[in-house]
Amino acid sequence: MTGTPLANEQHFVWVPQAAELAREAGARLRQFLAAGVETEYKGGVDIVTVADRTAEKLIRDRLGELFPEHGVFGEEGTRERLSGEFRWYVDPLDGTTNFAHGIPHFCVSMGLEQRRPGLPADEDGTLVAGVIYDPNRDELFVAERGKGAWLNGKRIHVSRTQELAESLVATGFPSRKRHTSPNIHFYQEITLRSHGARRAGSAALDLAYVACGRMDGFWEFNLNPWDTAAGLLLVEEAGGRITGFSGAPWRLDSREILASNSLIHDELLGLFADMFAGRNLAPIPTPQEFAAHRAERAAAGLK
Ligand code: IPD
Ligand code: CA
Ligand code: CA
Repeated sequence: MTGTPLANEQHFVWVPQAAELAREAGARLRQFLAAGVETEYKGGVDIVTVADRTAEKLIRDRLGELFPEHGVFGEEGTRERLSGEFRWYVDPLDGTTNFAHGIPHFCVSMGLEQRRPGLPADEDGTLVAGVIYDPNRDELFVAERGKGAWLNGKRIHVSRTQELAESLVATGFPSRKRHTSPNIHFYQEITLRSHGARRAGSAALDLAYVACGRMDGFWEFNLNPWDTAAGLLLVEEAGGRITGFSGAPWRLDSREILASNSLIHDELLGLFADMFAGRNLAPIPTPQEFAAHRAERAAAGLK
């Protein structure tokens, strides 16, 4: 095992090997970032595509060695052994846009689902392990069901913030078809009602940050299980709550996710209900109204 030791390592079943692998993949991503497009990939090769495919291949191959019975469901297209009892959801590079711009905020995310034999394909199994590794800060978030959530060997817990007004929350926007998402309205409303909404660019790290109390909540409209599986278990094991936007239990194929420290969850659900019904929205000036007001003040000689 390299890097910071895991606490309670001896009690974990899958996390030690998965964590080592996530570290390996993360180190590879850091090398790609350091090499940059100009130096290593002058020929017009998309460094992002090369980096995430290389990392996924590394994870897929090594998972096959470490856990030969386990399936792998990866963002870059891996679909292997999906009929077995265990299945890893893998995002080899969560935070692609940051990576592409040289911003060191991205991670490797791996969540393990256990599916009892005979479980219908459209039913969820149980998430039993999760690993999220941020190679730029050397932060390793891990959880196994019933064994707590941990950051670099220290137990982590969600925050104790009681109200949205005192919360810092996170969200994200899809990289494609952004004009079909209403999220900018939610971003506006929640920004007005909280300490702020952050859009840092990695859903898996957003969830890990809820788990360790840096953020009080997180929501997003259009995610996939490779973005959320590991983070979900981290948040649950850290004492948080995860649902859909109307409070329904979250499922692996849910696109919409609302995660929180649990204390502000009902308030957020109420706000989402209001938002979807168009109720109680905080008014702000349109740019046109603002420009007119500014012109009036300038004409009156006021600043
Ligand atoms: C994206 C990131 C981002 C979220 C997007 C995801 P990718 O994943 O998690 O924060 O807002 O919805 O698609 O493409 O960087 O793996
Ligand atoms: Ca992702
Ligand atoms: Ca990705």
